[in-house]
Amino acid sequence: MSDEISDEIADTLIAAAREAARNAHAPYSNFAVGAALLLTNGEIVTGTNFENASYGLSLCAETVAVARANAEGKLRQIVAVGIVGGMMRGGVAHGTDPIRPCGRCRQVLNEAAQMGGRDLAVYCAGAEGGAVEAHRLSDLLPHAFGPGDLGIR
Ligand code: THU
Repeated sequence: MSDEISDEIADTLIAAAREAARNAHAPYSNFAVGAALLLTNGEIVTGTNFENASYGLSLCAETVAVARANAEGKLRQIVAVGIVGGMMRGGVAHGTDPIRPCGRCRQVLNEAAQMGGRDLAVYCAGAEGGAVEAHRLSDLLPHAFGPGDLGIR
């Protein structure tokens, strides 16, 4: 199952992701990422990348957003995600090329998708503007391994 999302809602998600990216903690890469999840009730839950002086401990924006939704008991309510990112100059993220979720985040998003019993709409854009790409998580992570393989529903 996958829900139909209007262009207007997709744009709202991208705007929320851009707003979230302003809070990125990314002093090591200088690459700010924002993610915004749309829930079944219309609520939006955001995340930013959260880097660490021990580089390998850094968390991606999408993962932070999904964990935040889960912490609120809403893991099964996620229907779509907007993702933006770009290099920071002067504390502001720049660029119009869309960024797509890394492999680990695709797997994390898949956990939410399968637990909620739906495919996710994934909207990708640059930090400043430009085109919004629309994807389905099932296209970005085909033949996914997930909770169902371990008998979890
Ligand atoms: N990053 C994300 O937040 N999400 C992605 O899907 C790709 C990469 C972050 C991790 C790191 O803080 C910075 O972008 C540069 O890799």
